Amino acid sequence: MTTNLVDANSPKKHIETLFTREQIAERNKLLAKDIAAQHDHDLLVIPVLKGSFIFAADLIRDLHTHGLSPQVDFIYLASYHDGTTSSGTVNILRDIETDVTGRDVLLVDDILESGRTLKFAADLMEKRGAASVKICVFLDKEVLRAKDIDIEADYFGFKCPDLFVVGYGMDLAQRYRELPFVGHIVED
Ligand code: IMP
Ligand code: MG
Repeated sequence: MTTNLVDANSPKKHIETLFTREQIAERNKLLAKDIAAQHDHDLLVIPVLKGSFIFAADLIRDLHTHGLSPQVDFIYLASYHDGTTSSGTVNILRDIETDVTGRDVLLVDDILESGRTLKFAADLMEKRGAASVKICVFLDKEVLRAKDIDIEADYFGFKCPDLFVVGYGMDLAQRYRELPFVGHIVED
């Protein structure tokens, strides 16, 4: 299935759908069920902005359906890569306000790629005294994990091929976040 871009600057591109809105909704329900089965107590959900905002919004409502009543706070992280795959630093652009001491934290992000962003976030929460830190990502690009980063998702929506994807919160230069499906951009 394809969708034409509404991008006047890129008339020769289209977006090829990888995961449809229906597939995403179906998968999220199962994810939430898995999470709820393992967390019947007070969970602190921390979406990593910006890319996770739509996934997190859907996920917490599905968690509600499964009887969870999580606390939610947000962290905004930016990862800067210097052109190599083995380096890159992560900066906090906006921190959470909640004290994580003794809390069961669920970090939620759009994509686990090199793993740098979530490794940074998980280490930060552990350093601050979280009782447990789990990771839930919408897409797992496992082939792109950095060799020096030891992190995996406890929960993931879909395994994702090595393609640049947009939609469902994920962007290319801050565009396409509004698409209700996940796709990748193809040159015609
Ligand atoms: P990493 O795991 O630290 O390498 O970074 C993952 C982050 O990079 C994600 O949270 C996204 O913000 C961004 N990212 C990685 N791949 C893509 C993509 O295909 N489309 C849009 N953003 C991406
Ligand atoms: Mg991100």
